[in-house]
Order: sequence, then C-alpha cells, then structure tokens
Amino acid sequence: MAPNRLIILDTTLRDGEQSPGATLNTEEKVEIARQLARLGVDIIEAGFAFASPGDFEAVSQVARTVGSDNGPIICSLARAIRADIQAAAEAIRPAARQRIHTFISTSDIHLEHQLRKSRSEVLAIASEMVAYAKSFVQDVQFSPMDAGRSDPDYLYTVIEAAIAAGATTINIPDTVGFLTPLEFGALIYGIRQNVPNIEQAVLSTHCHNDLGLAVANSLAGVENGARQVECTINGIGERAGNCSLEEIVMALHVRRHLFNPIFGRPADEGEALTAIDTRQIYKTSRLVSNLTGMLVQPNKAIVGANAFAHESGIHQDGVLKNRLTYEIMDAETVGVSENRIVLGKHSGRNAFRTRLRELGYELGEADLNRAFLRFKELADKKKSVSDWDIEAIISDEIRLIPE
Ligand code: KIV
Ligand code: ZN
Repeated sequence: MAPNRLIILDTTLRDGEQSPGATLNTEEKVEIARQLARLGVDIIEAGFAFASPGDFEAVSQVARTVGSDNGPIICSLARAIRADIQAAAEAIRPAARQRIHTFISTSDIHLEHQLRKSRSEVLAIASEMVAYAKSFVQDVQFSPMDAGRSDPDYLYTVIEAAIAAGATTINIPDTVGFLTPLEFGALIYGIRQNVPNIEQAVLSTHCHNDLGLAVANSLAGVENGARQVECTINGIGERAGNCSLEEIVMALHVRRHLFNPIFGRPADEGEALTAIDTRQIYKTSRLVSNLTGMLVQPNKAIVGANAFAHESGIHQDGVLKNRLTYEIMDAETVGVSENRIVLGKHSGRNAFRTRLRELGYELGEADLNRAFLRFKELADKKKSVSDWDIEAIISDEIRLIPE
C-alpha cells in the first residue's frame, strides 16, 4: 500500500498531552481537535481511552464532534490488552472513520525489565491483540514500542505477524529518541526489505526528540518508504517531545522538489505532498500553546516569534532589496500575516480584537472590555504592544474561539 501523499497522524492530544504539565480538559481537547480538522490532518489520535474516565470522555467527545464523514479519522491508543482495546473501540464509536492503535514493546530491555515476558510471548500477544482490535474496526494500527532499540530480526517477525493478523498501519517508534537519521532510515529500509507482507500495510514513523533529531529522523523514514508521519503541534510530547508537525510539513513543502520524485511525481509539480492547509499552522500553534500553557521558544522554526524576523542590518538590507536573499518561505504560507497592524496607543478596539483572534483568543464582551482597558494603559507606556504583551494581558481571561 503506497499512498501518493504523506498521511499526517497528529498525536498532540495523546503523546503531546504527555508533556509534563500540559494537561487539557475535554472542552480544550475538542477545541484543538476542531482546529486540527481545519488544519487538514488525516488522523487525530485523540487520547488513550482506557487511561482514565476523563481521557475516555475526551476521545468520545472528539469522535462525536469532529469525526464526521469527511473529517479526520479518529484514533485511540490502547495497550495490547483486551480491556484497553474495548475502551478504545467504545470511545471512538461515534466517529464516522475509526482507528484503534495498539502497541507492545519489542526491545529486549523493555521485555526483560518492564513487561517481564519472553519474545515468543510478546509475539503471540501482538498477533492476538491486533486480531482482537480488528474484530471492532477495519483500521488497526500496530506499534512495536522501542522499535529503534529492538533486535531487527525479531522486529521483522513481530511486524509480519501483526500484518497477518490484520494491522493496516505499522508504526515504528523511536520511543527514546536514540537513533540518528541514517540509522532510522536504515531501520525503515530494512523493514521494507525483510518483512514479506509489508506492502499490505502503510509504514509510519513516530520519532521522539531526545537528541533533537525527531524531524530529521522522520524525513529519513519518508525517504526510505514511510508514508505516514506521527507528529505534534509545536513538537510537544513526552520528555523532549515528538516530531513537530509544522517543521516536517514545511520541510516537505519548501523542499518538495526533493520529495516529489519519491512520491512518484514530477520534480517540479506544485501539488502539496500532504493534505495540510499550511495557512492554518500559526493559528494552530498559538491555540495549542495557549491551552497547554507550553510557551513556544522565540527561535522555534516556523512558529517562533523570531522565525520571520530580521534583526541584523545586513539581513534587513538584503530582504528589502529582494526577500529571497534571506527568506526561504513566505510568512503568509504558514498564516503569519505580512501586513500586521502594529498595535499602539492609537489602535482601536477592533484592531485589538482582530489581533486577539489571530492569536487564537475569543473573549466575551466583558472580558474584551477589561483587556482593552489594560491594553490602552500599557500602550500609553510603550511604543508598540507585542504579542507577548497581549498574551500577558489576557492570560486570566481565555475564552475559546467557537466553531
Ligand atoms: O513513543 C512511543 O513508543 C509511543 C507508542 C505508544 C507509539 O508513543
Ligand atoms: Zn511516543
């Protein structure tokens, strides 16, 4: 199975929410899921239904509100355990298109110290639980956890068995972010060469960022035949986070002449390699940052406050003469407005409200009035009011943008 574009599975609401301190309530998860649907992700991993009643409710609400016929596939994570799989199946049931993602570790270190099971026991469980998930839904994803540190021959055997049991996507996690791009690319290549039935499934990457290599590793996976990438908004996730959606999508967009040929397209074809509406990227990043409370570092690629700023005189001079001298993409491509109104003491309520909306905030009238008064007080003291100032002003008064 080789789709001719890259499938994007967003796991902001599952692995992303595993960032320390990034807990989201159901209402917030639904709001993010709506924005992910506008962004155009193919699959939303909405949570881990068995983990808690709150998680179950959130997955279920996302499935109900966002999982329409032409909306994204809604997925729940489940350990390779019957009760987990049952909870996942029940939680995603309201969605028109449903996926169960089940996983079990395959590295010896996890088998010995965490699962306390033998290789043959894990092989049998993987196969049995994929088949069990398949009894609920057609679309079953299987992940051999810690694949990056697993013995390749054993990994091939488990993957072959999972596909034979009905898995339609095989996701390869570099769970601890240990591999380099050459190694991760070789892992994907090796799977394609050594698993006889691999063509019956879509191969997927799931890279963690412990060495800052998650995006590079995911790209190496794509170069070697992966056709789904798992990622999160702003790269949030367990420890140092996951592959960042905005970075991988824009790498594929800006350098598409390198990637078009591997998707079987002419090198200069303008058609996008993903279904993502890149103009929604900035807004999505702001929303996730606001609701999780996880700030985006100013120099973060694509969505950081400085990503399109030019400070040095030489760079400013070059950009004024021809922007291509120092810019590899247009800020508007990711939804950062070029003609931003500079907010200052002469700005009116409408300009203030518009900027708030661009930053992902919708305040009720009373909150807006209060925030506007505080903005005017600040504007009297400062030449211009930055996005950071605005974030500080409304931090107590967040209201979500209604559908
Ligand atoms: O990092 C990991 O191994 C995971 C799995 C559950 C896919 O998040
Ligand atoms: Zn993960």
